[in-house]
Amino acid sequence: MLIMSKWASARFLLVLATFIVLFDNLARANVHHYTFIIRRTPITRLCQTHNKITVNGQYPGPTLHVHNGDTLIVKTYNRAQYNATIHWHGVRQLRTSWADGTGYITQCPIQPHGRFTYRFTIVGQEGTLWWHAHVSWLRATVHGALVIYPKRGSPYPFPQPHAEIPIVLGDWWNRDPEVVEIQAIRTGAAPNISDAFTINGQPGDLYPCSTSGTFNMSVQQGQTYLLRIVNAALNSHLFFKIASHNLTVVAADASYTKPYTTDVMFITPGQSTDVLLTANQPPARYYIAASVYTTQPVGKFDNTTTTAILNYEGSQSSATPILPQLPVYNDTATVTIFSRALRSLASPEHPVDVPQIIDKSIVTTVGLGLLPCPTGMTCGGPNNTRITASMNNMSFVLPNIAILQAYYFGINGVFTTDFPSNPPLVFNYTGDNIPKTIWAPVFGTKVKVFNYNDTVQVVYQGTNIFQADDHPMHLHGYDFFVVGQGFGNYNASTDPLTFNLVDPPLRNTVGVPLSGWAAIRFKADNPGAWFLHCHFDDHLSWGLNTVFVVKNGPGYLASLEPPPADLPRC
Ligand code: C2O
Repeated sequence: MLIMSKWASARFLLVLATFIVLFDNLARANVHHYTFIIRRTPITRLCQTHNKITVNGQYPGPTLHVHNGDTLIVKTYNRAQYNATIHWHGVRQLRTSWADGTGYITQCPIQPHGRFTYRFTIVGQEGTLWWHAHVSWLRATVHGALVIYPKRGSPYPFPQPHAEIPIVLGDWWNRDPEVVEIQAIRTGAAPNISDAFTINGQPGDLYPCSTSGTFNMSVQQGQTYLLRIVNAALNSHLFFKIASHNLTVVAADASYTKPYTTDVMFITPGQSTDVLLTANQPPARYYIAASVYTTQPVGKFDNTTTTAILNYEGSQSSATPILPQLPVYNDTATVTIFSRALRSLASPEHPVDVPQIIDKSIVTTVGLGLLPCPTGMTCGGPNNTRITASMNNMSFVLPNIAILQAYYFGINGVFTTDFPSNPPLVFNYTGDNIPKTIWAPVFGTKVKVFNYNDTVQVVYQGTNIFQADDHPMHLHGYDFFVVGQGFGNYNASTDPLTFNLVDPPLRNTVGVPLSGWAAIRFKADNPGAWFLHCHFDDHLSWGLNTVFVVKNGPGYLASLEPPPADLPRC
């Protein structure tokens, strides 16, 4: 029999307790293994069958369920005829920029017959994010939801819902989206428009040959449900509404918000929004619906409405569900009300830390442009031009190898570090008569470099060049605070006085108001190369992009991990 002194047994208990705590933490953070096979899959929508690229034959792709703190290991095989990557939209990828899955920014694409394993850990994010291909327009069908539950053992900061339902909003293209993109680039014209919008891959009852597939959501009267809504559409902002029901927003882009109750939601491509829905209406069937927000002229956008059905269990009615009254397509007022209503939860359990002092300040225009047609050619843009896009007059050109590889291995000639911190030309950005002489940007692969822990402010200034638009600006590797937004030209002396530095929403994608501006702040605490771009895929193709390179900080824990051994080569 083992006899211990009081002191020794106390020590033994302490060691045992430490061991239990350690073990408990390990047991609480899980590792999830997934296999993604990217391949051609015949899919029938709108009375036609087409081969589309999917993950594991599913459209939308598989929903992944993890907890904050968990690690994901995703073996990805490319069996399609196109180059592919998988991007984990909104995942911070702390020290794992290599796993960000951005073609030619963090990795060379996985070539047909190639493979790559993404490994990363979710740190401090709870709510809904998503994943999608990040090469060409492959993400039209290569996308899915990423559900992040609270840290194991922690509750939601709202009552536990009865059930949770991912709602992936998307668009359907009868044509091959890859071909639509190539055609637009070749002719210089605006791309073709989508043929339908979708809810969980289904257009719904208002389209031909679609009724049998309409997504049905069953609810019990009196219960509350958490809808995890993602906008995966390529080029369309969406309004979202459920007939006769309110929605209470509780999280956006995997950060909690103060509860905000509304009857209509607005969501840009790239964003995700978690809402609570209480089934408090008479048992019946109600339409869930989404349609576009745009300021394009009628005929130049997909003006259709996608629907799903909210079905109360036990309701006998076979009557046609009631359709909610969606805002008209150009209802900027509704967009503005919704976008300005969101606030960070900012509770003791979920504090926010808004940078108050700024080390690096950037003001960048975001907008379209027109290029003259090369002599001897006919171009599809207005008045025989080619449509393009730029930030601070630079239209981004993707390099032939990944920027992160070039940066890490010191390969010269791939990018330059002179992305301008201010518009090189000062003009009335949101005015009506912008001189045509400044409609054509310069082309380049210019990035901006930050030191570790720099506090950064970026002001996106929309322009009315050729056509004003509400650009959904997305930054990889970071969540940022949206501290301010407004219409017209940003005024650097008066507008900062209106900033919310207390509880601004924390997001990864911000809709820059139409003919207006938005200001964001973040701390550059994640080394790597991070794509910054408009989440409209047509604008991305036209060059409305740049890259933020963040240097390593002191020590191992502030440094980028070494590249994985199986990183694809170009
Ligand atoms: Cu949804 Cu560059 O990302």
